[in-house]
Amino acid sequence: MSVEKIMVVDDDALGREYLCETLKRGGYEVIGVGNGQQAISRISKEDFDLIFLDMKMPGMDGMEALEKVKGISQETVVILMTAYGTIESAVEAMRKGAYDYIIKPFSPDQIELLISRVNERQKLIAENKYWRSASGTDEKSEPVYGKNSKMAQIYEQLKKIAQSKASVLIQGESGTGKELVARAIHYFSPRCDKPFIRVNCAALAESLLESELFGHERGAYTGAVAKRVGRFELANEGTLLLDEISEISPNIQAKLLRVLEEEEFERVGGEKTIKIDVRIVATTNRDLTKEIQKGTFREDLFYRLNVVPIHLPPLRERREDIPLLIKSYLKKYSSENNSCVKSIAKDAMDYLCQYNWPGNVRELKNIIQRAVVMGSSEDLELSSFTSLLDTRKVEHRTIGNDSVSIKNNGQSIEDAEKELIFTTLEKTGGNKTKAAELLKITTRTLRNKLNKYNIEDKNSVEGDVFSHIE
Ligand SMILES: Nc1ncnc2c1ncn2[C@@H]1O[C@H](COP(=O)(O)OP(=O)(O)OP(=O)(O)O)[C@@H](O)[C@H]1O
Ligand SMILES: [Mg+2]
Repeated sequence: MSVEKIMVVDDDALGREYLCETLKRGGYEVIGVGNGQQAISRISKEDFDLIFLDMKMPGMDGMEALEKVKGISQETVVILMTAYGTIESAVEAMRKGAYDYIIKPFSPDQIELLISRVNERQKLIAENKYWRSASGTDEKSEPVYGKNSKMAQIYEQLKKIAQSKASVLIQGESGTGKELVARAIHYFSPRCDKPFIRVNCAALAESLLESELFGHERGAYTGAVAKRVGRFELANEGTLLLDEISEISPNIQAKLLRVLEEEEFERVGGEKTIKIDVRIVATTNRDLTKEIQKGTFREDLFYRLNVVPIHLPPLRERREDIPLLIKSYLKKYSSENNSCVKSIAKDAMDYLCQYNWPGNVRELKNIIQRAVVMGSSEDLELSSFTSLLDTRKVEHRTIGNDSVSIKNNGQSIEDAEKELIFTTLEKTGGNKTKAAELLKITTRTLRNKLNKYNIEDKNSVEGDVFSHIE
């Protein structure tokens, strides 16, 4: 992420040597060339993080070289070097994508300052890229609810754990709040204003995961057209969440072990050793000790990760948390959706408290959200849940094939239609066009129906409700 390799392009040999030497003393890898053509031919073969480009050169001048550089590598930072008389054109060059200009003669301090600004900017760009590509909402401000004694104990433990840098392994069934707890650890920690970066180890094939974690150099493999900064580097000084750690291959397990032990690694296809300071939190919904017995997970890595173990109990083992969660989600979704729903009938509450919740808190959250969005009276009735939960338990329907069967438990046609629309949207991840296709209606008809049921234009329909149902 930070500047490593620099090119100096200047036809004035003395000035070029002076700058090259200054930079080399600063620990950078530096290449000096005497004209624009040479610069372009090297840039098309190698990656440079930063180029100092002289404005006035015989043949190809700085402006032309700048355009060519940007054509080859948009991400390379270019700083123009100019004499007093040519400041205007330097300003023009900034419009064409130069990062800054510096007036000759300059001091080593000025150069150092410039590079540190470039580093800051590169870091921001890399972080922004990550956030744009990261799926899901940022839940950093979401509270962790629970009054169950085990949960309270975990919560207390969290604050203490957060102060150290010890690796944490969070185990628990799907939807029990592992990611939420990982975020809490980060935000309670002294690293809270540094990045919290998440990698879903189950979502990527081995080679992709490797470059996602460690980054790669240009040409490390086919398709690696530019240098890429990995998530370990992005998470530097912050926290890295390795989600579903049981899914990583033996090769990556070995690499991970080294990072945990030595806090250093190399990018894929690279030779330079990169030092980092990252707090690791890993999660799994599998029993890793069993994976060790099977020989699919390294025991030494397990002990490195499991310095602080946290076991999140399934919701059915902490039923006293159910009313608390229901009430808080009811409040949240009711106000987010301007819903008329304000409370829940007692028999409905009892019913939800007895339910088994195989999808744990995530399932509960989704069901309350859905009930609030679809609810049409102040009280959520038992009937709005029996159908939802029953259908989940009996897995009664198939969508996408020809058969769609709905068990009738006192539902009206409208309710059934609403529900079918929801289930289909759930199936398509919120994609209305695909949902309409499956329902064999036009997208317009689907939109009309969503409007009719007052569920159109609520971001939650395409966002939260469906993205969390897995
Ligand atoms: N104790 C809790 N208080 C409030 N919300 C919670 C709690 N536990 C979980 N949630 C919510 O439930 C949802 C699922 O939680 P999370 O994503 O952390 O689960 P997970 O254990 O990582 O699941 P998976 O294994 O499927 O990734 C999130 O929206 C989270 O905010
Ligand atoms: Mg998770």
